Amino acid sequence: MNNIKYNLEKARKYEVENMDIINDDKKPLIHLSSPIGWINDPNGFSVFKDEYHLFCQYHPYSKAWGPMHWAHFKSKDLIKWEHLPVALAPDTNYDSFGCFSGSAIDDNGKHILMYTGVIKDDEKERQTQCIAIGDGINYKKLEQNPIIKGDILPKGSSLVDFRDPKIWKEDDTFYSVVANRAEDGSGQIALFSSKNLIDWEFKNIILSCNNELGKMWECPDFFELDNKHFLILSPQEMEQQGLEYHGGNCNVYTVGDYDKNKFIFNKHNTQALDYGLDFYAPQTTITSDGRRVLVGWMQSWDNHMTPYEFGWSGIMSIPRQLVYKNDRLYQIPVEEIKNYYKDTITIQKYIENETFEDKRLFSRTFDLVVEIDVNDLDEFIINFAKNQRYNTKFIYKCKEQLAIFDRNGAGIRKDCLNERKINITSIDNKLNIRIIVDKYTVEIFLNNGYKTMSSLIYTNMEANQISFEVKGKSNIIINQNLF
Ligand code: FRU
Repeated sequence: MNNIKYNLEKARKYEVENMDIINDDKKPLIHLSSPIGWINDPNGFSVFKDEYHLFCQYHPYSKAWGPMHWAHFKSKDLIKWEHLPVALAPDTNYDSFGCFSGSAIDDNGKHILMYTGVIKDDEKERQTQCIAIGDGINYKKLEQNPIIKGDILPKGSSLVDFRDPKIWKEDDTFYSVVANRAEDGSGQIALFSSKNLIDWEFKNIILSCNNELGKMWECPDFFELDNKHFLILSPQEMEQQGLEYHGGNCNVYTVGDYDKNKFIFNKHNTQALDYGLDFYAPQTTITSDGRRVLVGWMQSWDNHMTPYEFGWSGIMSIPRQLVYKNDRLYQIPVEEIKNYYKDTITIQKYIENETFEDKRLFSRTFDLVVEIDVNDLDEFIINFAKNQRYNTKFIYKCKEQLAIFDRNGAGIRKDCLNERKINITSIDNKLNIRIIVDKYTVEIFLNNGYKTMSSLIYTNMEANQISFEVKGKSNIIINQNLF
């Protein structure tokens, strides 16, 4: 089979020659977004030579998904990203259909990328694991690729759905978890090990879906935090379960204990990670100062809606530090975001059955923190990205302890899902709401990151008003930081 139509030189040249047509004013201010064309899944999130590197699934040639390349960015602070030349192109006979998602580590000054090579034609489709090694700009695929083929998986495992390796190193051994479809048609996570990156051994299936949590699982991430092990998964074809899991492509994490000798993961507790409309395929890395930081793709496969006049599609979330407390993985925007605040406005007010507005708060690029007293309150609404025509809402219904994100008024020109609800309880009669808006992105962090909701709005930029509606009585404290 020889379907090779793409190469790195062509992709790099295309970027240089065409990127100027993209209007940077239309891009988010502090969120990483596609340079040109389409991006999905964060890949290869790692620290290399004192800088953060982030790659992602990339089809530079159109705004739609296509044969996957890897786009490449680096940053000193996780917020301001420098765009680098395309890192991988689907240019060999083992990845001609795409260099699918994967991960990266720094191994003694060598930047190791581990990704899925996909081939597909009328007769055959295969996914295998491959390695490319580089210096932070140029990456060379190993001659021995593919270094893991599906034939070493347990009998009945899919050779077609076998992707998204997450690599790490412990002592002198490399490990990788890879998502796979088991004989029963649902997901399983396979663990492999290697001493030299070339010869890999199958160790165990560390977790099986058994058709209980969606179908195929994508993009596994496996790491230790506070003496517990966490497995992050992106299940496909999830069925709705109350307000915890929504239908379609979902994202979940499971916390448990990992027996490093027997390669067994005993899960204790599984929950959704983010409850918004646009969040998928998150990946983590560990910073030099020991923080576990996560980035997700802020878009949904079934529901995506980039306006047709944009020359690009795809935005990554704000990197979030993960902290485990109160039996929950908290997500907190990295501290570095505060270096980008240009101005801060603080308002403290008692409000009774009234809609409150303050002209100074108008913006579409802000980090807003609101604390409300819920004792004598029935309902609290924050309206934003608002003008006479448009409106996006965060609603809190106190008695039901229910939070609602509602973008029905955001001017979306597609028949898509616009609302999501979650349960959230107040603490000491207070609810803390943090909303980061960067033109099109809305990331809501409730009770200091206890639960998050990440969604997109493509509302006209002129819709930049904010108002607060109080049904009942409440003391509210508003802190708005402008970017
Ligand atoms: C998740 C995913 C991955 C795959 C990639 C292809 O969004 O489907 O499983 O590697 O996207 O672009």
